[in-house]
Amino acid sequence: MCVNGNRVERSDFWVDLGRDRVTLDGRAVREGKRYYLLLYKPTGFLTTYKDPAGRPTVYDLLKDFDHWIFPVGRLDLDTSGLLLMTNDAQFGERLTNPAFKVPKTYQLKCSTILSEAQLDRLRSGVTLDDGPTRQAVVTRLRDSEKYSHVELTITEGRNRQVRRMIEAVGGKVLKLVRTSIGEIRIGNLKIGKHRPLTPEELSGLMRRGGRGKRPKTA
Ligand code: URA
Repeated sequence: MCVNGNRVERSDFWVDLGRDRVTLDGRAVREGKRYYLLLYKPTGFLTTYKDPAGRPTVYDLLKDFDHWIFPVGRLDLDTSGLLLMTNDAQFGERLTNPAFKVPKTYQLKCSTILSEAQLDRLRSGVTLDDGPTRQAVVTRLRDSEKYSHVELTITEGRNRQVRRMIEAVGGKVLKLVRTSIGEIRIGNLKIGKHRPLTPEELSGLMRRGGRGKRPKTA
């Protein structure tokens, strides 16, 4: 492959087909169609391509989709909910880059009843082993006899962040579902199913970070 006239042998060399001149065996490589999908990931599926242990992955749910796409960020094996998948690397990078502050909303069931003071700590930010979290929007959905059901919106996406935030205030997440990213909601999509983003959903996300300028704090 040649990129801007220079021979490249590495298979993991990143190119921007909108900017770089790329040729393969002397023929120009053009940008292909971009795909943007919303998948309702069930628990029990890994957000990776292949698992050495043979566990199911999100690609098992996409057997009817013929194009290579990758997950935008990840959801834990035991988390369900909204997962975006695309072949647009810049879009994926920006939606997961905390500098763009794209809000992600989760609903969770906590192992204990959380007090207002505990919810306030989550709101103002808790300290995790990789640093303090940003302010979060936290709403008590309901309490049952032993559990609190809470909605939490964060603008970062660190590894197991929601679970670790709840642990930092003394609880444990028993169930975790991501219900929205930006303005995109799962709506009535059935679990395990996928659908393309609508043009309105896509342009909303693009405005949030997909194609605009980088924020100053990036
Ligand atoms: N936070 C978590 O703890 N787990 C996820 O899967 C996503 C966010």
